[in-house]
Amino acid sequence: MQSLNERKNNDEITSGEHISFWIDSTESIVFETLKQDISTDVLVIGGGIAGLTTAYCLLQSGKKVTLIEDGFIGSGESGRTTAHLANALDDRYYEIEKLFGKEKSRLAAESHTAAIQWIENTVIKEHIDCNFKRVNGYLFLHPSDKFESLEKELEATHNAGINTQLLDHIPNLPSVGGKCILFPQQGQFHILHYLKGLAESIVRQRGKIYTQTHATEISEKGCRANGYKIAANQIVVATNTPVNDLVTIHTRQFPYRTYVIAGKVLKTQLTPALWWDTGDQNSTWNSQPYHYVRLEDFDDEYYLLLSGGEDHKTGQADKENIAEEDRHKILERWTREKFPMLEEILYRWSGQVMEPLDSMAFIGRNPGDQNVFIITGDSGNGMTHGTLGGIIISDLINNKENTWAHLYKPNRTTLKIAGEYIKEAASMAAQYIDWVKKGGINSIQELKKDEGAVINLHMKKVAVYRDENEELYAYSAVCPHLGCILQWNADERSFDCPCHGSRFTKYGRVINGPATSDLTPLDFQEE
Ligand code: FES
Repeated sequence: MQSLNERKNNDEITSGEHISFWIDSTESIVFETLKQDISTDVLVIGGGIAGLTTAYCLLQSGKKVTLIEDGFIGSGESGRTTAHLANALDDRYYEIEKLFGKEKSRLAAESHTAAIQWIENTVIKEHIDCNFKRVNGYLFLHPSDKFESLEKELEATHNAGINTQLLDHIPNLPSVGGKCILFPQQGQFHILHYLKGLAESIVRQRGKIYTQTHATEISEKGCRANGYKIAANQIVVATNTPVNDLVTIHTRQFPYRTYVIAGKVLKTQLTPALWWDTGDQNSTWNSQPYHYVRLEDFDDEYYLLLSGGEDHKTGQADKENIAEEDRHKILERWTREKFPMLEEILYRWSGQVMEPLDSMAFIGRNPGDQNVFIITGDSGNGMTHGTLGGIIISDLINNKENTWAHLYKPNRTTLKIAGEYIKEAASMAAQYIDWVKKGGINSIQELKKDEGAVINLHMKKVAVYRDENEELYAYSAVCPHLGCILQWNADERSFDCPCHGSRFTKYGRVINGPATSDLTPLDFQEE
């Protein structure tokens, strides 16, 4: 395994400056880079859990499959998750039941339960050494929420066929007072070790994987990648947010940054489980941020406790007057209060989550296309949504009946999509206004080493970064997707788009879609 120091450019390994525990504890999973024109039955774009599961399922059904990934396997958002495997949906079953009805709520529960089971079966079948465990999950109240919410959730989960129970307290965790709902038979694993096992199995089944291979010009006939042509009969875009579509899906889901800390806890102090609170009911954001916690084996004596939360819409952290770089501290304070046995913090990172307006992922044919399929809208259940994506798309391509496909189809219309859209779209539209983040600098001279900013220069918005050697880099701050003005994220050292979540490294390289191209460099002389 490479040490952090040996890994010179973190943003080439993952989509941010901070390295997650998963990435730090796994040798980079690398395959050859595409260097010629090729053809295949199915082209899968994206080497995270959704793309690899799709490739695996299709190979099992006898298809010829090629997967391409612009970084390394798991270097996108799959490597920045906390890898909860849950049928406890974070948008709450009572909301899903209200929106979709009891039968679809039951189907949603059934599908996530089946996804956990699929992962467990695959781990066993493929002998994947990824520390998969079945654990209990406990949902407890956020201080802003009322007991009535737990009662409603209990009833809705029973309607959905989940065997939940109301408990007087969380077992072995007196620091979190009050009643909670027990979700039995949840799961957890080491996500990158799991993806490594899936990738190895794909290669054993004669699937082709290319890493550091960047897709452009995606159409119903294939795409170009690294300048070469890939011809395919079907194309699956599994890139967290679709990079094939300019508008449609990006008006139905919204990007959020979520924060994670990971620190040591003695194994004698806690039993592995998943813990979640019900989220801040008074939040600025439509998608109410909540806390999520789990354990992972660290060494013989310690677990690593992974705690996440403090979410905000990408590029809009300042709306709460809490900058990106301050959110880990707030998260640590909350975690130490609820988990006082937490010792030294070893890792901090953040990830990007796409929040669909009506809680369900978008899995199926890309609206308007026959041969292009998408998997997106991971929400807080990315591991199970990604797995379901692979199962459903494989069935669709094989013309096989799938009972969940209708629930997740991307061109669905629900009342919430119509209603909530107005609020979210207003927030997005505001970002087109000529606005520069509060606390930003006024001139390039104020920029310190290893600092970036978006500034006004000669009537233009310019994204600037000064490196450790005082070298200055300047780019147009206009997002190449649809023209919003980027914001500097001092935590992950990236330029983030407040509209649909595109992100770029401090050197202007695209690391999150929907943008597919890098920032435009500007010729610039410091005065
Ligand atoms: Fe759409 Fe930037 S991501 S305008």
